[in-house]
Formats: sequence, structure tokens, C-alpha cells
Amino acid sequence: MAQHEAQDLTQAVIDRLADCTDPRFKQLMSALVRHAHAFVREVELSEAEWIAAIGFLTETGKTCDDKRQEFILLSDTLGISMLVVAINQLKAARAFQAAGGGASTPTEATVQGPFYWEGAPELELGSDIGEQMPGEPAYYHGTVTDTTGKPIANCCLDVWSGDGEGVYDMQMGDDAGMRLRARFHTDAQGRYRFWSIKPSFYPVPDDGPVGEMLRRMGRHPNRPGHIHMKVYAPGHQPVTTHLFVADSPYLDSDAVFGVRNSLIVPFSAHAPGTAPDGRHMNIPYHSASYDFRLVPAA
Ligand code: BEZ
Ligand code: FE
Repeated sequence: MAQHEAQDLTQAVIDRLADCTDPRFKQLMSALVRHAHAFVREVELSEAEWIAAIGFLTETGKTCDDKRQEFILLSDTLGISMLVVAINQLKAARAFQAAGGGASTPTEATVQGPFYWEGAPELELGSDIGEQMPGEPAYYHGTVTDTTGKPIANCCLDVWSGDGEGVYDMQMGDDAGMRLRARFHTDAQGRYRFWSIKPSFYPVPDDGPVGEMLRRMGRHPNRPGHIHMKVYAPGHQPVTTHLFVADSPYLDSDAVFGVRNSLIVPFSAHAPGTAPDGRHMNIPYHSASYDFRLVPAA
């Protein structure tokens, strides 16, 4: 039969995968067709709406270049990136528990975002990556252990954030180079410490099609203040995560749905004086403490 009635069309498309030899690809494409067709049926999509959607996706593609990835931003703002992170971490956590687990839960992962820059300078523990940048100084410290509590020495913390006004080095113009980012390695007891600024909330790039979509959805583009880190050590599963500033606006309405309660950290305010690492501060500063826990590799 050459003709497919509307109600048979979904199965007809799925049937065309009969000769697909990659089982996972077959599963992905069948589910995609089923869900996309169900969406069209549910909303009774008009032709004009479908053309508008294709126009939007075309603009999204045209907005991408080597510095900007509007499709990832679309995935982020629709909660898809965070869903992918969460279900994969859940899968890893289940496998870890099935294998005996550890005494404590691993550090939760969240979205990477577009501002990671590979090859940040390797700095000594205690270095200040926020010097001369807008923002209030903050001292970050804590430990990295595995989930049994064993300290992980020489674990890398690859750290990046915007400044105290929410601007990343990549947004500061071509000459800015790397700012507010570095790689630190834990000491023999698994401890880390460094200085930066207390990060501010900021909007995701909203001057493109995704920004327009957010406005039409009646949404704001802001993320609560946070500092990013990738934490990794040989023999352990790496984690890409953030620490969120506990008193920041937008914790309840992060534009990319990245907030996890376990990653919200109080930033204590301190008067000028001697900081915990012996540094003399002649202006007020903050401190934030967080202990990371990594899952041993399978
Ligand atoms: C960020 O936190 O850097 C970020 C994450 C997702 C989209 C835009 C920015
Ligand atoms: Fe960020």
C-alpha cells in the first residue's frame, strides 16, 4: 500500500528502520519519531507553526560560530542538558551502589556551560585568580576524598567563573586572555585552597534566537552566582560541577535548571584581618568551604 493514513504514518516511518544495523541508533530514531509525531498530534501543529519552528532552528544554527553554541544554549534552557547530566549520574550512582558503594554520596554533577577553556594555567595552592578583577575577594577551601572518605592527593580542580559582575573572560574582548580560571592540585592530604571573587548572578547570552524564545516564554535569562569546576584524578570518575552562592538571587529559577541543593554553599563574610591561610586582608572578604567526593573508577 503506497498511501499511509495519518494514524499509520508513525509506524510506517519506524518500519523503514528495518534494515538499520546499529541497534542503539535504531532505538534512538524510533523513539524520536514516536515522540515527535505524538507532539505534532497533541498540539495539532499548523503548517505555519512548523515553518516558524524550522525558521527558529535555522536562525539557531546561523548564530553558532567557534565561540558561540546556540544549540547547546537551547538544550540548556529547555532543561535537556541538565536531564542528560542527571540521568547519567544516576546511572553511575546505581552501578556504584550495586558494586558495594561507599559511606558517602558522591558530589553531584551539573551543566558545563559554554565558558570552559581547556588549558587554564596550573597554579600553586593558595594563588589568587581574582586579583584586579571586579568583585569581592573570596577564599575557597576544602578537601577531595573518595566516597569512603580517603583523601585524594594530587587531584586536579580545573576552576572557572565570571567576575563579580557576572562577566567571563571570554566575554571581555579578544585581548583579555584567560582570567578567573586555573588548575589547582590537592596536597598530600587531599586539601585545596585558592582565592578568587564571590561570583555574581548573570544572564546567559540572550541576544540571539534563544533569548527571543525565553522572552516569548515569559522567562528571565539569569543564572544564580556560581563557580565552575572539573574535579578529576586518576582512578576516579571525574565530575563537572559548580558551587552555588547560597545568598544569590535566582537559585530557585536558574535559566538552565543546573542548581542542586547539595551544591549550594554559604559564603561567610569576614571583616578585614588575617585570613585562614595567613594572608592579611585590608578589605572585607568571604570564605566558602566545600568537600568534593569522587567515585572510584570501576
Ligand atoms: C554557565 O554557567 O557558564 C552557563 C551554563 C549554561 C548556559 C550558559 C552559561
Ligand atoms: Fe557559569
